[in-house]
Amino acid sequence: MCGIVGCVSAENCYEKIFTALTRLEYRGYDSAGIAVLNADGVSVRKKKGYVSNLKGKPFAGDTGIGHTRWATHGKPSDANAHPHVCGKFALVHNGIVENYAALRAALVSEGETFFSETDSEVIVKLISRAYTGDFFSAVVQACGQLKGSYAIAVLCADYPREIVCARQGSPLIAGASRDALYVCSDVPALCGAAEYICPACDGEFFRIGEGEICFLDKAGRQIEKTFVRVAPENRAASVSAGTFMEKEIAEIPRALADTLESLQKTDFAPCARALRQAERIFAAACGTALNAAQAFKDAAESEARCPVFCFAASEFRYRDPLIGEKDLFVAVSQSGETADTLEAARLAKARGAYVLAVTNIAQSSLAALADFAIVMRAGPEIAVAATKSYNCQLLCLYYLTAQIKFYRVQEFPDWFCRLGELPAAAESAFGCFPQISVLAAKLKNERAMFYLGRGADVRTAAEGALKLREIAYIFAEGYAAGELKHGTLALVEDGFPVLAVSTSEKLAAKTENALAEAKARGAFTVILSQNERAISESCADFGCLLPALPEKLMPLVSVIPLQYFACRMCLLRGFDPDKPRNLAKSVTVE
Ligand code: M6R
Repeated sequence: MCGIVGCVSAENCYEKIFTALTRLEYRGYDSAGIAVLNADGVSVRKKKGYVSNLKGKPFAGDTGIGHTRWATHGKPSDANAHPHVCGKFALVHNGIVENYAALRAALVSEGETFFSETDSEVIVKLISRAYTGDFFSAVVQACGQLKGSYAIAVLCADYPREIVCARQGSPLIAGASRDALYVCSDVPALCGAAEYICPACDGEFFRIGEGEICFLDKAGRQIEKTFVRVAPENRAASVSAGTFMEKEIAEIPRALADTLESLQKTDFAPCARALRQAERIFAAACGTALNAAQAFKDAAESEARCPVFCFAASEFRYRDPLIGEKDLFVAVSQSGETADTLEAARLAKARGAYVLAVTNIAQSSLAALADFAIVMRAGPEIAVAATKSYNCQLLCLYYLTAQIKFYRVQEFPDWFCRLGELPAAAESAFGCFPQISVLAAKLKNERAMFYLGRGADVRTAAEGALKLREIAYIFAEGYAAGELKHGTLALVEDGFPVLAVSTSEKLAAKTENALAEAKARGAFTVILSQNERAISESCADFGCLLPALPEKLMPLVSVIPLQYFACRMCLLRGFDPDKPRNLAKSVTVE
C-alpha cells in the first residue's frame, strides 16, 4: 500500500528519504518518487516500478518528501507516481479522495490542467489555488474540501525548511532524531533513523519546521502531544538468506514464547468489567486476522458460553449492526492500520461498545482507538503473507477466551495451563517440512485445491487456502468437510488435490468420510493429523503427522505445515513469496 516519508534534515535529505522508502517496499507498491526543495524550487524524480529506479545523482536540499504508490486511481505509471506538483507545491498522499471526480471537473472548468489520473493531484491543485502567502492556511482550506481519507505531506517553495502534514482516516506519524525531523505513514520507514515518534490523530495537522514539530488543529491552535521512544516491535528486520516468509515461519516458536510471556504480564483488570458483563461479543477483522477471529468465536462460545458474532470488518461497517453499550467488540489486526478494521472499531465505539484490540503494533491507530489493546510480540512481519502473526493472534485470542471464562465463572479452560507447550510444539511441527516439500513438488503444477476441516479445523483450512491463493496463485478453497457433497464434489475429478486437516478425535471419522468421498471420485487426498491411526488407516494418499497437543490448542500449530506448503509451492512455481502480485501488507484504503 502507499507509503509516505518526509524529512527536514541538517544535511542533504535525498539519501535519508531513499532509505526510508526502501524500508516501505515490503508493503507492496508499483511506483515511487521523491521531491526535494532547493534553489531551483522543487526537484522531482518519480518512476514506475521499484524504489531502486530513484537511484541517481541525489538532489541537493535538506527538505523533501517521498512516496511509494499502490495504484487505486490510475494505472502504475511515471505520471501517476507521487509527488504531484502544482506551482510552488509538491504533495504526497495516502488514502482515497472520494469526491475527487467532482473536484477535478470543477478545477478543469476553471482552467486547470491535470498531468495524472490520480485523485491525489486534485489536492495539490486545491492547495495551490488557496495559497495567498500562508502555507498552513492553504493546506487547511484544501483539506476542508476533501471527502474520504487522506494522509498528506506537502512542500512549498516559499517555505524552504518546512513540511505541512495532515491526517484524516489514514495513518501519519511525526518522528524526531538528533539531526532530522520526519513524517512517515508507517513507523518501520524510520527504523534506525528516528528515535521518537508521535502519531497524528484524525483531523490534526502538523508542521515540521526548523528544529521543531508543531501539532495544530484546523484553526491553527497548538495541540499538546507526547513523543514516545520507537517501540522494539518496530525495530528494523532483515533477512540474510532465503525469504522473509521463510524467516517468519521459522520465528513462530519464538514469537509464541514472547507473546505468551507478554500476555502473562498483561493486567486485564482495566477491561474486567467488559469481559465479565458483555451481553454479546463481536469480532471483526480482515483476511488472515478474520480467520483468527473466527477461531476466537469457536473458542469463546464453547468455553465462555457467550454469543460471539464474527464479521469481515468490511461488512460489519456497512450493516447497521446490532451492537450497543452492553457489548464487547474485539478488533483483530496485525498492522493495526487496516482501514476496514479501523472503521468497524470506530463504528462499534460510536455505538457505545467496549473496544478491545489485538494487534502487533503498540503505536498503531487501532491500539490508540481501542479501550484496551492486547499487543502480541510477533516482531516485525515483513512478508505480505501473514504467518507468525496468525499464530500469535490465535494465542492472544485464546488467552482472551480464558480471561473471559475466568471473569465469568472463575474458572480457566483446562488447556490454559498447557499454553507453555506451544513453542516446543511449533518447533516439532517443523518436522513435517521435509514431507511437505515432497508434497509441494508433487502438486506444484495443480491449478486448484480444496482444504477441508470440521470444527476448529475449518478455520485452519481457510487460512491454509488463503495462503496458497495469495502467494502461489493457485485457486484454493477452505471449508467445512461436510459441505463437500452439497455441490463442491462436482468439481473433483482424477488427480484433483483435496487436503483435510483433522485434529479432533470426535470429528475424525466424519472428516475421513469426506476425504473418502473425494477419493472415490479420483481425488488425490492428503491428511494432516496428530493421530497416527488417521495417517495409516484413512484413505489419504499422503499423510502428515502433527505434534501432539491438547486438541483445543491444535489450531495454533496445525496451520504451520500449511503456511510452509504455500511458501514451498510459491518458490517452486518461481514466485517471490514476500511480494505477491496486487497485494499490500497493510491495506489502509477501503
Ligand atoms: O494488518 P491486518 O491484520 O489488519 O491485515 C489484514 C489482512 O489484510 C491480512 O491478514 C491479509 O489477509 C494477509 N496478507 C494474509 O496473509
